[in-house]
Amino acid sequence: MELNPENLKPREMYQWMVQTILPRPIAWVSTVNAAGATNLAPFSFFAGVCARPPTLMFGPANDRFGQPKDTLRNVKATGEFVVNLVSESLGELMNATSATLPYGESEFERFGIASTPSVVVRPPRVAASPVAFECRLDRIIRFGEGPIAGNAVFGTIVRMHVRDEILNAEGQVDVRSFAPLARLGGDLYASLGELIRLSRPE
Ligand SMILES: Cc1cc2nc3c(=O)[nH]c(=O)nc-3n(C[C@H](O)[C@H](O)[C@H](O)COP(=O)(O)O)c2cc1C
Repeated sequence: MELNPENLKPREMYQWMVQTILPRPIAWVSTVNAAGATNLAPFSFFAGVCARPPTLMFGPANDRFGQPKDTLRNVKATGEFVVNLVSESLGELMNATSATLPYGESEFERFGIASTPSVVVRPPRVAASPVAFECRLDRIIRFGEGPIAGNAVFGTIVRMHVRDEILNAEGQVDVRSFAPLARLGGDLYASLGELIRLSRPE
């Protein structure tokens, strides 16, 4: 099978991409608006970029009316965000926060999600997240126009938090304790299966 994106509707191409680019980690992004109201939403178009300077990115698409999502509005207004990572046990709460709430209404409050203050940036972190990255906005790159057109938000990591419970005796991350939840297509998610070790060639 061969697909030419030029012959597909954007929504169809989106479906092909989310069913094939996987498993995807989930950035559960907390932000505040100019008035200080908190917001929390998941994004699985998410990746690390580089370590020098420590940089990550996530991709909030425009909504179906072509408008920026609350997260993007807040990042533009404040220049700050926190990426909280999602363990299996947080999956249901994370999913709940993907609901569209009126701008300024907090998913932390609506869904009873405990937060904890960040050290450097104003948006709080999700208290129960195993890992969180406090970020300062580096740049936003816009792709396309209108509904579901994209935005890539790059942030510089200014603090990283790792829960002690997911560290092993050597101080390294124990992936079984972390139990990261992976995003697949549709309503599907996955947990870590069998671990495979491949040594890098010299
Ligand atoms: C697991 C998961 C991953 C998601 N990934 C993305 C994504 O990468 N980009 C995006 O625009 N929306 C994504 N969404 C949808 C947003 O979370 C949803 O539109 C949310 O309402 C945006 O919230 P906001 O308006 O408060 O920013 C995802 C939803 C879920 C449940």
